[in-house]
Amino acid sequence: MADRDFSSPGVRDLLRLADLPLFTPERAELNSHKLVGFDSRDIRARPFNLLRSSLSKKLKESGFRLVGLTSATPAAGKSYLSLNLASSLARVAEQPVFLVDLDIRRASVAEEIGLTLDRGIESFLEGEADDLAALGRHVDGSELGIFPAVRRKRNTAELLASERFAQMIDIFRNRSDAAIILFDLPPAFASDDAMISLELLDGYVLVVDSGKTTRKHVEDVLAVLHPTPCVGTILNRYSGGFADSYGYGYGGPDYGKYYDPS
Ligand SMILES: Nc1ncnc2c1ncn2[C@@H]1O[C@H](COP(=O)(O)OP(=O)(O)OP(=O)(O)O)[C@@H](O)[C@H]1O
Ligand SMILES: [Mg+2]
Repeated sequence: MADRDFSSPGVRDLLRLADLPLFTPERAELNSHKLVGFDSRDIRARPFNLLRSSLSKKLKESGFRLVGLTSATPAAGKSYLSLNLASSLARVAEQPVFLVDLDIRRASVAEEIGLTLDRGIESFLEGEADDLAALGRHVDGSELGIFPAVRRKRNTAELLASERFAQMIDIFRNRSDAAIILFDLPPAFASDDAMISLELLDGYVLVVDSGKTTRKHVEDVLAVLHPTPCVGTILNRYSGGFADSYGYGYGGPDYGKYYDPS
């Protein structure tokens, strides 16, 4: 994509993880939302480390840095996987990793990490805030930056198709110190939002709910999001036929299989 000049007086020169307000998630909050990727000693983080390795490899090979997570149907586990994957990636990354909540109608990232907010990235898109850094949070003790959203029910497609959205993506891509930026997207068929946002991202990971997503769903998502590259799929809630000893509905090393489509 051609570089555009979005310089405006209120925008910082560089969006750096170190400039985001610090936030320390409560362990109980993380546990209640099954967010285990933050803790390397937690054995439940292992499946995410495997996903992390597959995804990092794919991103290195392709040079992609801005990647959305979407699904065919709602509640496939996109937000759960984006948070666990982003925190797992941030534990080994040499440069910061950012996670951005672009599911503006049903934004959930803030709530899942126990963060109460007046405004999030929707206020940047609405032109009510210029300083993206102030809208993000640096997860204390990590290389992870989170950019949550506060829910908006209306005009989300307009917000995502706006110049402000292009400006925000330009900052993340060209003027931030993050190496990898994951975006928690809405389901591909719920609205135009995922399709519109993906126009400015490098590619997407398709989250497949092993119980619910059908082959037809997968084919339809690939067709609808074409020509945006699918960088892989994650088969979520895959039990592999044996019970998980932690009660989270996944089956040990078979959980969260990542498939590289190439
Ligand atoms: N593999 C899993 N093991 C246990 N719980 C899971 C798993 N995947 C998702 N969940 C839980 O299922 C619920 C739905 O997941 P999540 O909110 O991440 O889905 P989503 O795809 O983001 O939904 P939406 O389409 O509404 O944005 C959450 O409570 C989440 O914690
Ligand atoms: Mg979600």
